[in-house]
Amino acid sequence: MKKNRQTALIHAPRKAPQYISTVQPPLFRASTIIFESTDALFNRHWTDRYDYSYGTHGTPTTFTLGDQIAQLEGGEYSLLAPSGLSAINLVNSCLLAHGDEVWVANNIYGPNMEHLRNLQTRYGIDVKVYNPIDASTFQPSDKAKLIWLEAAGSITLEFPDLTQLVKKAQAHQVLTVLDNTWGAGLAFNAFDFGAEHLSVDITVHALTKYPSGGGDILMGSVVTRDQKLHHQLFRMHAIQGIAISGDDAAQVQRSLASMQVRYEHQSQSALTLMQWLKQQPEFAQVLHPADSASAGHTYWEEICTNGHSAGLVSVIFQPEYDLKAVRAFCDRLSLFKLGFSWGGPISLVMLYDLKGMRALEHTHLQQGLLVRFCIGLEHPQDLIQDIENALKQLKILQNE
Ligand SMILES: Cc1ncc(COP(=O)(O)O)c(C=O)c1O
Repeated sequence: MKKNRQTALIHAPRKAPQYISTVQPPLFRASTIIFESTDALFNRHWTDRYDYSYGTHGTPTTFTLGDQIAQLEGGEYSLLAPSGLSAINLVNSCLLAHGDEVWVANNIYGPNMEHLRNLQTRYGIDVKVYNPIDASTFQPSDKAKLIWLEAAGSITLEFPDLTQLVKKAQAHQVLTVLDNTWGAGLAFNAFDFGAEHLSVDITVHALTKYPSGGGDILMGSVVTRDQKLHHQLFRMHAIQGIAISGDDAAQVQRSLASMQVRYEHQSQSALTLMQWLKQQPEFAQVLHPADSASAGHTYWEEICTNGHSAGLVSVIFQPEYDLKAVRAFCDRLSLFKLGFSWGGPISLVMLYDLKGMRALEHTHLQQGLLVRFCIGLEHPQDLIQDIENALKQLKILQNE
């Protein structure tokens, strides 16, 4: 058929051969996916593993990344979301209904708690908080539907008693969901951990951190080994219109090749820093699960048998350092940049006042302002030097 120029520009007459072998898989960008025939349209079903029907549903690019994340974490099925928090919200909105009870660790990622509190107010979901290092504080009623776990927990980095918490949840038919961002599938296998080879039901992962590794992409995942659960989550994912861009998926996919090397490097640097920080008199407490003085250390030893941790370490300043002083410390750091998140190339610092941040009181933490260091890929000795300089200036300021 002879075509007008405008049509010919759209329906290109020549097509280069489509498939060559490349280091990275080809990138698909799609909202519309074109069916070869009505047979192809009607013979597909949304439960097919790779059902290509519309961009929100998945493309080879997003399915490839999803498969890799599931494999990394020891799971089977995965869903991708535009941020870690949207992956968390997908789980909450899919699995919780009016009258359900949900259990949340005291040190859970703050916005997750906020989302659950919002559901509590609007939909009558009962939010209960437990102490992650004391499994006896998790007391599910017959309305309990879900328990949120995080290993190690946000900011204060207590490692939970995963074994007892998961066993108790299983005994009460409570679904276990782990925020796996810290372990990232590399510190331990959430679907086969500990001497008893226990497994959580679902993991959520902020791919924004280590899988992206660049500090420039937001993404999250939900992984399970249970096909029925996956389909339930998949339906909610579809009706909520949760989708990610092919470009972002390709970027994360590309970074996965270096993820383990980065994670192990950052884990080692954090240990080096932690040892040094412990010697500094300005800090009342140094928090890192690999440190024998940190809460939950024995659970970390039991689960993270390869000795790895995310590159995070928190310190609590001695009480004489007030907000003005701790702010001055943060402002005087040069390599550590003030910003949220972690897992990227640049080291980050953030300060927190724990007062009012937790539902339960914590007796294992000293009074004082908390600073969290997120270790990037810089040389650890330079990072130590940076903190040492800021502490020196802080002392001068205190003595003025
Ligand atoms: C433990 C944890 N889970 C989830 C998230 C949310 O990830 P995102 O920033 O991609 O929404 C974060 C972000 O800081 C986090 O620290």
